[in-house]
Amino acid sequence: MLDLRLCEFKFPISPLVISTIKKNASKVNNYPVYEKLYQTLQEYTGYPENWILVGDGSNELITILSQDLLQEGDKVVVLKPDFPMYAVQALRNKVFIEKVDCFQNNFQIPYEKVINACKGAKILWLSNPNNPTGGYAPLPILRKIIESVDCLVCVDECYFNYHGETVLPWVREYDNLIVLRSFSKTHGLAGLRFGFAIANPKIIEKTKNYFKFEVNSLAVEAAMSAIKDEQYYHQYWQKIKEEKNYMAEKIREFGLQVHDSRTTFLCIKVGKGEKLREWLQKQEISLKVAYDLPEWLRLGIGTRKMNQKFLTVLKKYFKKIIPVHA
Ligand SMILES: Cc1ncc(COP(=O)(O)O)c(C=O)c1O
Repeated sequence: MLDLRLCEFKFPISPLVISTIKKNASKVNNYPVYEKLYQTLQEYTGYPENWILVGDGSNELITILSQDLLQEGDKVVVLKPDFPMYAVQALRNKVFIEKVDCFQNNFQIPYEKVINACKGAKILWLSNPNNPTGGYAPLPILRKIIESVDCLVCVDECYFNYHGETVLPWVREYDNLIVLRSFSKTHGLAGLRFGFAIANPKIIEKTKNYFKFEVNSLAVEAAMSAIKDEQYYHQYWQKIKEEKNYMAEKIREFGLQVHDSRTTFLCIKVGKGEKLREWLQKQEISLKVAYDLPEWLRLGIGTRKMNQKFLTVLKKYFKKIIPVHA
């Protein structure tokens, strides 16, 4: 089965990270220690420990932030479409959700509507670049939103290294800004789990639990090595960009609409998404219908071999159902 559902980093992990994991495997009898990790993250991000919350992937950070910053009856604002975990965690915490539709606006953020929706809200969540479209909000729009609202704004930069623009330096400027980063899509640690949040210490102190070990000891060591060896990943971030452009071009040749993407996936308009997904599954290719977009499929970008397999199978599909294209 070719699994292109979750859009992880599909290329080889840094050899330094692998040797670090092996070297530390025999030490997992001890609880994790975070001092060196925070020092490394301080050098990496420019923010000291009291501005940083580490987590078992950004999913856990979304869980922690929702639990610790929200109360029953609060309101959060999310975009439609966007990463579903923001709403999932809101529901778990009995929080009211207001969704702002970006569909009518060709997936661009209708920022005036967003600012309006944020009245009386506790948190505005948004992924930038966006999952599932792969598109992004320009920095001036984000600044306008952050400056205009009274609530917290959590910008999830899970795909940062494929985009290059960040609001991270603004955290010092705006005490309502939280930035999330993950090493799942960028540094090959999806299976080990590592992410961090940066925000003003007034926010971070509400979420830190010194009795809990959020990140396991192998993930701590692996994350530090991934940062140390970050130069290694640049070649693959570039390669993923090239593969994504190649795939977008090839898929457009089938007459399908492909949204421009700054991530590890492409969002493709296929009509009946579930029908094509099921058919692909039978051909041993697994991908997802884009959340909140039933006419679109989300395709993770893999190696050239994986991508080629997808294209060959897609060609078969179009030959089969639309003989006019044959
Ligand atoms: C926007 C966004 N945020 C967070 C996550 C979760 O990442 P992690 O593996 O760090 O939990 C994903 C994963 O698909 C994502 O697309």
